Amino acid sequence: MPRVLVTGSAGQIGTELVPHLRSLYGKDNVVAAIHKASGGPSLRDGPLVTLDTGDSAAIDGAIREFNVDTIYHLAALLSATGENDPQLAWRVNIDGLRNVLEAARKNGVRKLFWPSSIGAFGPDAPRTNAPQNSPLNPTTMYGVTKVAGELLCNYYFVKYGLDVRILRYPGLISNVAPPGGGTTDYAVEIFYAVLQKGSYVCFLREDTVLPMMYMPDALKATVMLMEAEPKKAPRHLGYNLAAISFSAGELAAEIRTHIPGFTVTYSPDQRQKIADSWPMSIDDSEARRDWGWKHDYDLQRMVADMLAKLRPRLTSEGKGV
Ligand code: SER
Repeated sequence: MPRVLVTGSAGQIGTELVPHLRSLYGKDNVVAAIHKASGGPSLRDGPLVTLDTGDSAAIDGAIREFNVDTIYHLAALLSATGENDPQLAWRVNIDGLRNVLEAARKNGVRKLFWPSSIGAFGPDAPRTNAPQNSPLNPTTMYGVTKVAGELLCNYYFVKYGLDVRILRYPGLISNVAPPGGGTTDYAVEIFYAVLQKGSYVCFLREDTVLPMMYMPDALKATVMLMEAEPKKAPRHLGYNLAAISFSAGELAAEIRTHIPGFTVTYSPDQRQKIADSWPMSIDDSEARRDWGWKHDYDLQRMVADMLAKLRPRLTSEGKGV
């Protein structure tokens, strides 16, 4: 069994990835690291440490204490937060990554997962089906850190043989953890707003199309890539990863097939500019070819499952319909 450390465990992906990895590898084999003592109950059924990825000695300590051989380094800022504080975005997303890579190398960690993003693309990438080898010239600090991070990870593979594996995630939609500070957050917020208030003010234009994915597919892809034989995952820069692309208006229309009568108004803010700099869809045929990636959730199935999971929870908490 791998001995796993997950940074950013209380974040959007970590909140679900930690329980998923614990179910696969055993609770004691997956150490959840959180930045501040804020981890939800789902993280407390196995080892839990407080860790700042700015603190190299603390990362060394956690790897040695738990005999870690595999790291999922998820601690990061998302795109909108990154635009509000570019210096902090660089510090968290790049200095933190460098510290984790160095600690991994020095302590004999075998494998490391790192999340890249559709944010790695910029306005000069093809708008539809952006290929694996598109130009990567992002115009956000978030995107700059994703491109620099991919290169840094690949460097550690080439120079030190650290088996780093990277996915360029689309916008992720989860019924467990809300995102925070991303441009694709609207696709989660809308469910809560519709169920709780019967209306939603969307911060992107109605016709804004972005690549998206339901969290169960993201967890599946992450584990598939990490468990793939090395010869099936030869790419140590980011793999494009895709599932569904839809506009904000199309998402609202699909939710309306279940809950008629709610209102959505569109009031684009500074996040529109970020969304407009990203492709509407990306081509992930290399991931499908190399390690057999295939998504399970289309728009209809994702919306039905989100509502089935969220409706009773919001209702029982007395927060909505
Ligand atoms: N979901 C991210 C964001 O919106 C993109 O990877 O920032």
